[in-house]
Amino acid sequence: MSRATTPRPVSRRRLLTGGALAAGGALAVGAAVAATRPEPGAHPAGMMPAGEVGEAVEPFHGARQAGVATEPQAHGAFVAFTLKPGTDRAALGRMLRLLSDDAARLTQGRPALADTEPELGLLPARLTVTFGFGPGLYAAAGLADRRPPSVADLPSFRIDRLQPRWSGGDLLLQICADDPLTVAHAQRVLVKDSRPFATVRWVQQGFRRAAGAEPGRTQRNLFGQLDGTANPKPGGSLETAVWVTDGPAWLRDSTTLVVRRISMNLETWDLLGRTDRELAVGRRLDTGAPLTGTTEHDQPDFAATGPDGLTVIPDFSHLTRAHVTDDRYKIHRRPYNYDGAPTPEGHADAGLIFASYQADVTRQFLPIQQRLAERDLLNEWTAPIGSAVFAIPPGCPDGGWIGQQLLG
Ligand code: HEM
Repeated sequence: MSRATTPRPVSRRRLLTGGALAAGGALAVGAAVAATRPEPGAHPAGMMPAGEVGEAVEPFHGARQAGVATEPQAHGAFVAFTLKPGTDRAALGRMLRLLSDDAARLTQGRPALADTEPELGLLPARLTVTFGFGPGLYAAAGLADRRPPSVADLPSFRIDRLQPRWSGGDLLLQICADDPLTVAHAQRVLVKDSRPFATVRWVQQGFRRAAGAEPGRTQRNLFGQLDGTANPKPGGSLETAVWVTDGPAWLRDSTTLVVRRISMNLETWDLLGRTDRELAVGRRLDTGAPLTGTTEHDQPDFAATGPDGLTVIPDFSHLTRAHVTDDRYKIHRRPYNYDGAPTPEGHADAGLIFASYQADVTRQFLPIQQRLAERDLLNEWTAPIGSAVFAIPPGCPDGGWIGQQLLG
């Protein structure tokens, strides 16, 4: 095909952002896309078949968004956006239609429309894209009355060392997959398609154990602790703790997300002996068992005392301060580790992208955070440096889009 007859590079963005394309132009767009998009599951001649990890798929469509109750993938990127002035309710609808379409395709192992690197769209590796709405999105849409009241900036805590570069956001895309290249490609496509409507505010990238490294095992954070033991159970307390089950359509099957970037001082932590490290959290480092038990899922006994008359699990341990017994007030933690480049002097830039889901931030997350801010031995080695809160709207059926119940 000569250069003159080659279809122009596809701009679906222009199509959906109001750039009026003639019908003929739109057809040319469709043809160009069809030419580059392989059939789902098909591997072009000459390409090796993929492995199990690469081909694994998480559903995109459904009453609830994926990426919340989904078994955490190995890699995650949290991408927060600031809406551009003029991104109103109608423009938000166009943006979310576009991004939902990208997510629906990429999560199923199909390149996005007009994907410039379609080969990178073929291995979903359990990709999920979870959409979050910050307070500013409701304001921009003129729908402040539909914002869940607990979706607002958190009060400040005395432990906070918050930096604007890691805080706030009108829209969040949580992109998770078992393959870092899949995450990078999805992030690129979604950021590209959001450009007419929003600017990138911050990106936080993190990791957990590689897929298959320790199947079924609770992940470890960079302090070496098993992190996630006491999470509510899928199919059980997770249901009660995380999902909103009634109310108007834009709330039913929704949840909320708190993202806190928490720096962890690995160097001063390294100075502690093993016993002190275990006392700080109230659990053993090897098995994750509470200091009063022998296996990870033993119930902690906060009243048990040792020969010195002191409680075996210190009253100011992280476990004691964070512990919640009533299922309705639990939170579902789904954190990722981060580990940036050390300084030239060799000081680490490491910590936790703490992400917790709960039906209501005020009722569930805040009391725990308040107790931890008042007193928690871990505060000696940790400091929150970023904070953001988002509503996670319900999912959408095939052909629908995320946010439709709110904005449609
Ligand atoms: C860098 C910061 C943090 C580290 C290293 C950390 C680490 C841990 C560890 C090792 C456990 C015990 C095992 C488990 O159940 O997962 C735990 C439990 C827990 N953490 Fe954290 N955590 C951090 C921040 C937070 C924050 C900010 C919150 C909430 C505001 C929180 C809430 C909880 C809760 C609710 C539990 C379960 C307590 C229970 O019921 O047994 N953590 N954390």
